[in-house]
Amino acid sequence: MQIKFDFNNMMESSIGEKGISEKDIQAVSEKAADSYAYFEKNRGTGWMGWAELPYNQEEIVRDIIYTAADVRAHYDNFVVLGIGGSALGPMAVFNALCHFRYNDLDQKKRGVKFFVEDNVDPERMLALLDVIDVEKTMFNVITKSGATSETMSQYLIITDILKKRCGKDWAKHIIATTSESKGNLIKLAKKEGFKTYYIPDGVGGRFSELCPVGLLPAAVLGIDIIGLLRGAAEMDKACNSSDPYKNPALMAATLQYIAMEQKGINVSVMMPYADSLKLMADWYCQLWGESLGKAVDFDGNVVHKGQTPVKSLGVTDQHSQVQLYTEGPFDKVVTFIAVKKYRGDVVIANGAEEFPDVNFLCGHTMGELINTEREATEYALTRSKHMNRTIVLDEVNANTVGQLLMLFQLETAYCGKMLNIDTFNQPGVEEGKNATYAMFDRAGYEQKKAELEAAPKKSAKYIIG
Ligand code: PA5
Repeated sequence: MQIKFDFNNMMESSIGEKGISEKDIQAVSEKAADSYAYFEKNRGTGWMGWAELPYNQEEIVRDIIYTAADVRAHYDNFVVLGIGGSALGPMAVFNALCHFRYNDLDQKKRGVKFFVEDNVDPERMLALLDVIDVEKTMFNVITKSGATSETMSQYLIITDILKKRCGKDWAKHIIATTSESKGNLIKLAKKEGFKTYYIPDGVGGRFSELCPVGLLPAAVLGIDIIGLLRGAAEMDKACNSSDPYKNPALMAATLQYIAMEQKGINVSVMMPYADSLKLMADWYCQLWGESLGKAVDFDGNVVHKGQTPVKSLGVTDQHSQVQLYTEGPFDKVVTFIAVKKYRGDVVIANGAEEFPDVNFLCGHTMGELINTEREATEYALTRSKHMNRTIVLDEVNANTVGQLLMLFQLETAYCGKMLNIDTFNQPGVEEGKNATYAMFDRAGYEQKKAELEAAPKKSAKYIIG
């Protein structure tokens, strides 16, 4: 059940001179092959540790499955405290592979209720506390750095409540997922005796869904994590070539590279035609945006690379965004994700025989309708000569979700190398984190504080109201 990558509508054969020619691909084939070679040479090392996750976690997977069964047997709720790469993957996989109304299902039809708290909005924290009994809740604190203000403040709030409510057993309500060697969470975990999973050193936040960051929450939800990893391995193997025509991720990266560098395409719209993949689009946005949006290249030149990722949902956003995609500027690539077979279908009932303009729908299924609308939108974009491409899944399941995660990670890694930027750092994010520490008077950030104080002040003239 291999995912298919259809890039017809990126090509000049479909959209004329706005498109990419085989010659264009040929012209960058050496660069693409270099990027593939670089990746293969470094996979499993440096920041490319994530590439080996489908193959090197047998023992940890066993432990995770055991822990997940224990959580399901003893708790009512499982709450992830994390942000960015420590939250988006667990949310995307939950959305893809669990029932749409999972938390509302009768308890016998689901496992523990599942929550991901990826913000420090106080109203949201209070709302969570309104609906969970902390004595029956397992909290999974996920932070690679063990220092992120949002996650650590949530940790402090929750541990304070746990201590008051659960007495000496409070630490049993926390599982830490963090770096083995860096940060504060690992120190706290050792001190308090939390069950702990490690985020391997070569696995950055946005590339961490296939390590314990994503595997533990998924296993707690009863998701087939072995199937997820197997799917990722299958995609990895399908991408085992330096020839873009034989490597879907490398072709995807090559086309995006040409689109960005030669066609002025600076927006990448991810548009699944499946509600179950809506949060996969969110996950993709972080992966693509944070990895490729860089001010300097490997040689120290100021380059300001990147492509703005946008999430969109078919068919919902046909009634909001598609007008722009079809008739607006030629600055986007739209990636459709098509699902051939939905996991259930609903027949559109009869009942409008005397209204032909409605009756034409009757007897078809919703699955047929959503897929027909996707094809129709693809046609409209292609007709108006706007670049689009389609990733086709036979069905949404653990295997195809694993494939999809790996496909996008590989595409990102290849494309970053072709752009000659560091795909795996995030100095822009760090800058914001450091400014927060300085404003909160964290020790060691005095210089940053002075810098902030010296920055130009806002003028009242430009604030109205
Ligand atoms: O991709 C990344 O590295 C970031 O988005 C991080 O995941 C995010 O900032 C959270 O960091 P941490 O897991 O260290 O709390």
